[in-house]
Amino acid sequence: MEIVIETPNSPRKRKGANWEKYGWMYMRISGALLVALIFGHLLVNMVLPEGGVKAIDFAFVAGKWANPFWQAYDCLMLWLALIHGTNGMRTIVNDYAEKAAVRKTLQIVLLVTCVALIILGTLTLTTFDPCIDPAAHTYLPSICK
Ligand code: HEM
Repeated sequence: MEIVIETPNSPRKRKGANWEKYGWMYMRISGALLVALIFGHLLVNMVLPEGGVKAIDFAFVAGKWANPFWQAYDCLMLWLALIHGTNGMRTIVNDYAEKAAVRKTLQIVLLVTCVALIILGTLTLTTFDPCIDPAAHTYLPSICK
């Protein structure tokens, strides 16, 4: 069976949305956003804190995720990077997997893994409660009153 993959940036002859083009555009737009988000992430987590990378511990993460801005920031980075990485892997699978069944299987594995990680990561970010330990007010007094 011959497999035809859309050319992302050439005029389309078939009807319907050109998903390959949107995927191609997504890689560039998310790539540009990721540069800003990842450098911001490295700066805030590793460069600015006193003591550098050694400052990262449970209390550091709890403090960051007590702030909705950092929850939204990390959530955006998680979604953009996971969809970017998965779509990039899909391109590589399309380039190298020659058998249709192998290609389909790998694409399903990629999709399931991506959806599972997005759900797990988003749940972690949005439901994280550092004060779940009754003794937490002793080591996180400013967050757990
Ligand atoms: C620093 C931010 C990033 C930028 C600027 C960036 C940019 C890009 C661009 C423009 C492409 C498309 C290349 C093409 O179509 O020829 C691409 C592909 C890809 N990216 Fe990223 N990316 C970034 C971060 C990431 C991250 C965090 C991951 C992993 C989660 C990732 C995984 C991939 C993969 C697997 C591909 C496919 C490579 C291929 O087609 O050979 N990238 N990236």
